[in-house]
Amino acid sequence: MVGFENEKQEQEVWNSLKQKYIPFKFSYVGKAALAFDEVMCTDSYNKATKSSNDEYLKIFLDNSNINSIADIGSGNGDNSARFIERLLQAELSISNYFCCDFSDSLSELCINKLENKYQFINFKQILWDIETEKNDFLLNHINNEKALIVFLGNTIGNVIDVDTVLKNIYTSARIGDKFILEVSIRNTSLNSAEVLEDYNNPFVFKMFAEVLHMTGINTDKGNYKLYYDDVREAIIGDFEFSEDITLLYKSEELTFHKGDIINSCISRRLDKSVIENYLKSADWLIDNIIENENGTVALFFCNKC
Ligand SMILES: C[S@@+](CC[C@H](N)C(=O)[O-])C[C@H]1O[C@@H](n2cnc3c(N)ncnc32)[C@H](O)[C@@H]1O
Repeated sequence: MVGFENEKQEQEVWNSLKQKYIPFKFSYVGKAALAFDEVMCTDSYNKATKSSNDEYLKIFLDNSNINSIADIGSGNGDNSARFIERLLQAELSISNYFCCDFSDSLSELCINKLENKYQFINFKQILWDIETEKNDFLLNHINNEKALIVFLGNTIGNVIDVDTVLKNIYTSARIGDKFILEVSIRNTSLNSAEVLEDYNNPFVFKMFAEVLHMTGINTDKGNYKLYYDDVREAIIGDFEFSEDITLLYKSEELTFHKGDIINSCISRRLDKSVIENYLKSADWLIDNIIENENGTVALFFCNKC
């Protein structure tokens, strides 16, 4: 397989392919990271990740002595820069900013962009797969200083096991650290076709196609379909083979036949009560919930105590 960042990723993708499935997170690594960089420039992405209500941000952070940020799933850094601007406007002084992502390519892009723009902040790249790894970097890097942990731009919608992820973050947080979770909330009044339309982003297929290319699949030999699955509450990408194909990895062979489908869960939009339940089961206390004007993004402010 060509273009993945390390052998762990290759092995995980190969194991998933055997189940005719690719976790969407791999659409953010290696060559596919560049396709995501394009997604982030689109209006539909910016609309879906637009945040508001900085008034509350100020109240939430006032007297908290926070000067370190852990940005989890930081992506290419564009949204991180917007968030830094909001923090500066809320008169927060930031000394440390941790760009945490499992994608080496994206977190490097992120840190380069941010370092250029904010020379008075100390940026650090933390390679962390929040679904499969625990990480004590807050404890190891900043000792007694308080941190704000943020999840921007519906990163939670890419995650399969939300509960484990929130528990892993809870474990890495110390008493007094704060947590903001931004979520694209499912609009329950929309039907499946409308959800899809709401999500419409022309570059998503490109990300999915890039990861298929990296496995060695020739995407000319099949077709894509994007649809909303009511049971999984998710936007699903399907790739259907139009002819038989055999892949080879470490002398193991895997054959797909004409009509076989590989799918990827591209994004989930959960409703508020589901997210609240996940937060509670992961021990986070919910301090406040705020929706922005178009109702698609909510902020959940939580405190570890
Ligand atoms: C939807 S993008 C959001 C990027 C950015 N936060 C924003 O607001 O635009 C999701 C990001 O989370 C990262 N990500 C996905 N799954 C992850 C995982 N299991 N561990 C760490 N990062 C992950 C991806 O590499 C990607 O950068």
